[in-house]
Amino acid sequence: MSSNTPPDKDISDVLNLGNPINKIVVSRGTPLAKLMIVGEAPGAKEEELGEPFVGRSGKLLDQLLQNAGIDISQDVYFCNVVKCRPPKNRRPTKIEIQENLPWLYQQIKLINPEIIALVGSTALEAILKNKSPISILRGKWINWDGRLVMPIFHPAYLLRNQSKEDGSPMRLTKSDFLKIKEKIDSLK
Ligand code: URA
Repeated sequence: MSSNTPPDKDISDVLNLGNPINKIVVSRGTPLAKLMIVGEAPGAKEEELGEPFVGRSGKLLDQLLQNAGIDISQDVYFCNVVKCRPPKNRRPTKIEIQENLPWLYQQIKLINPEIIALVGSTALEAILKNKSPISILRGKWINWDGRLVMPIFHPAYLLRNQSKEDGSPMRLTKSDFLKIKEKIDSLK
């Protein structure tokens, strides 16, 4: 790095190279899953352990799935739109999303899940090409490429909004997971 590079800048930002690829985070869970959970991109913990949704957000996601009665070991496959951690956990850029989408499409084709939960607005926009706010689309079943897709709030958002009141994001998400559980059961 040159001596006049600001120390808080990542070299890949300075050189406009995209992410420094430390670890590619592909998936967690069973390839036989009926439910695929698609998040935004790995965070620090995911990069460290090489699996999606294993940090604070992932722990909450696991808890919500379990509370709804969904068997994670049998029925769930986790992945992300973007496979490498964006520097400083920023949102992935449009270009990063476009470059990573073919890998996600391959994953969907190979795993062939009946149900896909789009976790947060990045996943919603990347797959559905829909800019409607997630607060409008969450909890709704949408037909996409012959599959049932449901956008849901991102657990990071739930961690920032912990109210358990009626109509709170947490309560709405719990009911979304119950709908997903019902759908999984109807497929058995
Ligand atoms: N947030 C995501 O969207 N994906 C992860 O894997 C972890 C946190």
